[in-house]
Amino acid sequence: MSNNSRHSVDERILKYIEVARQLERGEFNLKIPASSPDQVGILGRALQDLAYTLKMRYVETQKLNQITSNINAGLLLDDILEIIYLDFRDIIPYDRIGFSLIEDSEGQKIVRAYWAKSDLPAVKLTKGYAAPLAGSSLETIIKTGQPRILNNLVDYLRHKPQSASTRTIVEEGIRSSLTCPLVTNGIPVGFIFFSSVRPNTYIDVHIDIFRQVAGHLSVILEKGRLVSELTAQKQRIEAQNQELRHLDDLKNTFLGIAAHDLRGPIGNIKMIADLLADGNAMVSAAEGTSLVNDIGRQANYMLQLLNDLLDITRIESGKLELNLESINMVDFLAETVKRQSTLASVKNMTITLKPAPAGLLRADPIRLRQVFDNLLSNAIKYSPLGSNIEVSVTCVASGRRFAVKDRGPGITKKDRTRLFQHFARLSAKPTGGEKSVGLGLAITRRIVEAHGGHIDVDSEPGQGATFWFVLPVSPVNVAAAAEQSRF
Ligand SMILES: Nc1ncnc2c1ncn2[C@@H]1O[C@H](COP(=O)(O)OP(=O)(O)OP(=O)(O)O)[C@@H](O)[C@H]1O
Ligand SMILES: [Mg+2]
Repeated sequence: MSNNSRHSVDERILKYIEVARQLERGEFNLKIPASSPDQVGILGRALQDLAYTLKMRYVETQKLNQITSNINAGLLLDDILEIIYLDFRDIIPYDRIGFSLIEDSEGQKIVRAYWAKSDLPAVKLTKGYAAPLAGSSLETIIKTGQPRILNNLVDYLRHKPQSASTRTIVEEGIRSSLTCPLVTNGIPVGFIFFSSVRPNTYIDVHIDIFRQVAGHLSVILEKGRLVSELTAQKQRIEAQNQELRHLDDLKNTFLGIAAHDLRGPIGNIKMIADLLADGNAMVSAAEGTSLVNDIGRQANYMLQLLNDLLDITRIESGKLELNLESINMVDFLAETVKRQSTLASVKNMTITLKPAPAGLLRADPIRLRQVFDNLLSNAIKYSPLGSNIEVSVTCVASGRRFAVKDRGPGITKKDRTRLFQHFARLSAKPTGGEKSVGLGLAITRRIVEAHGGHIDVDSEPGQGATFWFVLPVSPVNVAAAAEQSRF
């Protein structure tokens, strides 16, 4: 280029060429001199605008890259959504973000709110809210794949008063919204709802921005959903495994105890049978009757043990079902005391029933009988011969309080902690040579709790024990109480 031609070029053009080169290199912080409004000046201002737009696009792209890599770092869906809530604010305005999934429910597609976060004090439309997709305005968004801007929700609601979801977010204080469909592998999976408390918040640029991340975002959210589902499934399976392990341990313990406790009586029965079968044995008629009675006693004991084992197995595997009936407490207690008095009289003991308040109680009569039989048989089993047992019932705020008071050895502090556990054979020993398996109180506690009640003992060691339990007059949620009383 000659010196002459250089003089004829406008200096500004040379500067603008340099600026264009800088822009090409990605340098956006430029000083473009202001210029007079001739054609070259107009070119300068156009260059200024271009530099500004490029700078904004560059910042935006950087931000989007950062967002996608941040979001990628989240593993569980809830974490990813939290990151979205934190990061998107710079590029799309909002006071609230909602996220809903499309689910199949009984053959129809429904949109279920999975998550919502808001700067507002009240979030009314939140997890669990569900509505059919068919016929909704969301269906159009899914079909067209086009995000939708509603910049005046109050007005929209006036024209579509049947839209319950719009009504709810308007009640939250939301005035404009941008609804974006999420699609993975061509399959619609859900929606992201950006919303703002100001009307007219959203413009087409926000749709463009969302489009740039939509594909990536959909894949990540779907991945998060799958990971969350797998994690929840894993937790469920682990809980089930733990329960199965617990039941397996119990089963082994039961088998061990059953084998141990049945060996004695079976051995005795075999011995008696051998004796009776032995033609050479000199057994008188009276001795024969006594031996046969003994076989009966041993068989009864085995039957009781097997019943208790079956009971506790049923209870521990959650199969304790109560058949509630209205029970007349006065009659019920009189009959119970009469039944147990026969056993007590063998040990010269008496059972006194204090006057019971009249009234009905809703309970399972067979199970309630079991509770009293266990408590009264313990009182008889562990108390000195000739002592007295007292049964009472009183009205308390939470229902009826039943008590069985004995004059036995009482419960030591150490024994208390194991009293209601399986196979708790503790320091008190039977005073009349009765058998002791250690299941009675464990079964009793679970029955009482399945009725929504609770059981405990008051005792000063050496001063006797008062086992008491409170039952609601009418159990409210028997199934839940039974479930809670397990383990
Ligand atoms: N009224 C009582 N006074 C003192 N100790 C008691 C009394 N009731 C129970 N115990 C102690 O608590 C332990 C557990 O009682 P639990 O009724 O569960 O089993 P068990 O009576 O030994 O056997 P079973 O399964 O035949 O009832 C008993 O072995 C005994 O040591
Ligand atoms: Mg007992």
